[in-house]
Parts: sequence; structure tokens; C-alpha cells
Amino acid sequence: MTEDTADSADPADDPLVAAAREAFADAYVPYSEYPVGAALRAADGTVYVGCNIENANYSNSLHAEEVAIAEAVKAGHTEFDRLAVASDARDGVTPCGMCRQTLAEFCDADLEVVCDEGDSLATYTLGELLPDTISLETLTDAAERRRQR
Ligand code: THU
Ligand code: ZN
Repeated sequence: MTEDTADSADPADDPLVAAAREAFADAYVPYSEYPVGAALRAADGTVYVGCNIENANYSNSLHAEEVAIAEAVKAGHTEFDRLAVASDARDGVTPCGMCRQTLAEFCDADLEVVCDEGDSLATYTLGELLPDTISLETLTDAAERRRQR
């Protein structure tokens, strides 16, 4: 973690955090009762939000970050610089492992990830949360190695 705002700004004053907090109001979480919101900022400043949407077949559940990135990519965005994640527990929830990998498809390791702890923010980079990610480059490199065998 690179930064903590415990003694400085109110997270509510951060527009991306405010958007993530608003987003979890739409969560459908009859199973976990754990609403999560995510707000992803594209390179041009446009913000896409998502919430978790659960399913009786638990593994079909959509995570807030997945919904946000799907909305953004669907709208033509593939470059992002900042993500905020909030749960209604204000517990500093971070993107799960699956979401970290999903984000890594489009976001560089320096993507700023801010996690809502209620009266403070925990700030990470995506690279801190998911070092050594598998990527398109991994697979193109592997294909090249196969060709050279
Ligand atoms: N959840 C998210 O929406 N994002 C994450 O990356 C962490 C977990 C959701 C999934 C599930 O609906 C609930 O939180 C409990 O795991
Ligand atoms: Zn997730």
C-alpha cells in the first residue's frame, strides 16, 4: 500500500470514491448481503460504475469491477488510470484475484486502485495487487517460442 488518507482528506470528497459508493446501492446480493461498488476512470476521464450481481448458482455472480469494466469496454474504452472500490461495510475491500486479472487485461501496472475504508482510503497500484500477471504478451511470446522449437 502506498498511501493512506486517515489524517487528511475525507474519501467522500474523492469523486471516484463517491461514484463507487453510489454504485453499490444497485447491488443484487441476496446471498452474501455484501454490496460492492466499483468506479473505473477511463483515460479521457469518463467514469464507468458497476455493482455485484449475485446468482443462485454462486459462481455465476458478477463482481462490481467486472460489471464496470464491461460497461467501459462496451463503450469503446481500453485505457484506464484509476479504480475505486467500496463496500457498504466500508471495510477497505480490494478487488479479488479474479478481478485483478480481469483489470490487468486493459490496465497497466500503474493503475491506481483506491479502496474505501470509511474515513480513509487504502491506495495500491494494480502491479502491487497482481505482480507478474499473465497477459496477451505472455501468450504471443509463448507462440513465438513454439515456432522456434
Ligand atoms: N465482490 C465483488 O463484487 N468484487 C470483488 O472483487 C470482491 C467480491 C463481491 C462478490 C460477491 O457478490 C460478494 O462480493 C461477496 O464475495
Ligand atoms: Zn472480484
